Formats: sequence, structure tokens, C-alpha cells
Amino acid sequence: MSSAKLQAARKAVELVKDGMVLGLGTGSTTRLAVDEIGKLVNEGYRLVGIPTSVETERQAIALGIPLTTLDQVEAIDLTIDGADEVDPRFRLIKGLGGALLREKIVAYYSRQEVIIVDESKIVDVLGVKTPLPVEVVRFSHLRTRKKLEELGCTAVLRGGGEPFITDNGNHIYDCKFSSVTDPERLDRELAAIPGVVENGLFIGLATCVVVGREKGASIWNGD
Ligand code: A5P
Repeated sequence: MSSAKLQAARKAVELVKDGMVLGLGTGSTTRLAVDEIGKLVNEGYRLVGIPTSVETERQAIALGIPLTTLDQVEAIDLTIDGADEVDPRFRLIKGLGGALLREKIVAYYSRQEVIIVDESKIVDVLGVKTPLPVEVVRFSHLRTRKKLEELGCTAVLRGGGEPFITDNGNHIYDCKFSSVTDPERLDRELAAIPGVVENGLFIGLATCVVVGREKGASIWNGD
């Protein structure tokens, strides 16, 4: 287990206060934060969680964290989630874990979206290292793939011959661009393709980025 991830997770959980509605992200870093949230519940904190994936839901249930749904709350006080890449303007690539759709919905309704990463996730320009995950409906997905590639990427169906199925019953194309220099524009272009459900660009959603290192974690101010 990476102690940098654990440091980031613990620092973020310091922001949790008694009585909060929490968004529970997905991924190996967030898993550590959810463990810490479970400890708070055991100590008597009255918290309720909204998980962003079936995987996180299972973990939360096992830890005894009470759960609710977005439809039952006014807003989410604080969400803790990971990311695959973070740029200095807090724009993110997410979804290598396959949960990007629910993660984005939960982030949208969160007052605070706290992103926990180790230093390897910090980049100057998005998309140079990491493909951009795009969730698409299964119907005519090969057509959708062609439209994705017209945007200048190589789009690879996750899982190949046995395609990955998301928690929402869709497929994911991992779209490798040489770089994503204009994420806002690409986000709009992707949204305009019928069959695209959501993409892994998170723009204007992260309110705080916590960067973990082996010996501690700090809140990153970006550029
Ligand atoms: C899940 O769909 C992703 O958005 C994860 O949040 C992201 O992949 C980060 O995961 P790790 O913490 O495992 O790197």
C-alpha cells in the first residue's frame, strides 16, 4: 500500500465533521479514505454516505457507514475522491476505475469536492500520460468509436473481446490523445456525440486537491 495515498486520504478525512452528508468516491486512494470514515462512524460520528460505485457501496456497508441517495438529500457537504490526472487549474481526468459517471454526478452536487492524489497524478497538461475514459451506451458503440476518433484520439474499448460493463450497464472507450490542451472544448465536443453518456474530464468541480507524500500531505494551491 502506498503511504503517500494514505497520507492524502487521512488529510482529507480531517475535513469531515459530525453530521455531514459525504460523497464517497472510487479507487485505491479513496478506499483508504472510506476506511478512515468508517473509523469515525465507529467513534460515534453521525455521517451518511453516497457511494459512487457498487465497489464503494460494498466497502461502506461492510464498515457500517450509513448510506443514502442523492434523491434523498438537499446537497452533499463533502465528497472525497481520487483522480488519474490533475492540472494546475484543478481540471481532472478521472475514470480509469470505471466509475466516472456516478463520480461526476456526485461531484456536481457536492459543496466541496476534495481530490486526493499522490504526486504522480499532478501534470502540466492533461492527457499526455493518461487516456481519457469515455462512457458510451452499448447500442451502436462502434459508430460512436468512429466519432470519438474523429476528435483526434485512438479509442480503445476497455476489456477488448470481453468488454468492461460499467455500474450503469455501459461500455468505456479509453481515448488516447497526444495531449488535451483545451479540455473545455473537448468536453463540449464529446457531449455533442449521441451515444456518449459522460467523459472523464472534470472541469470546475474540484474545490480542493490534497497531495500525499511518503511523509505527509498538503493542500495544493494549483498555479
Ligand atoms: C474511478 O473511476 C477513478 O476516477 C478514480 O478516482 C481514479 O482512477 C483514481 O484511482 P486511484 O486512486 O486508484 O488511482
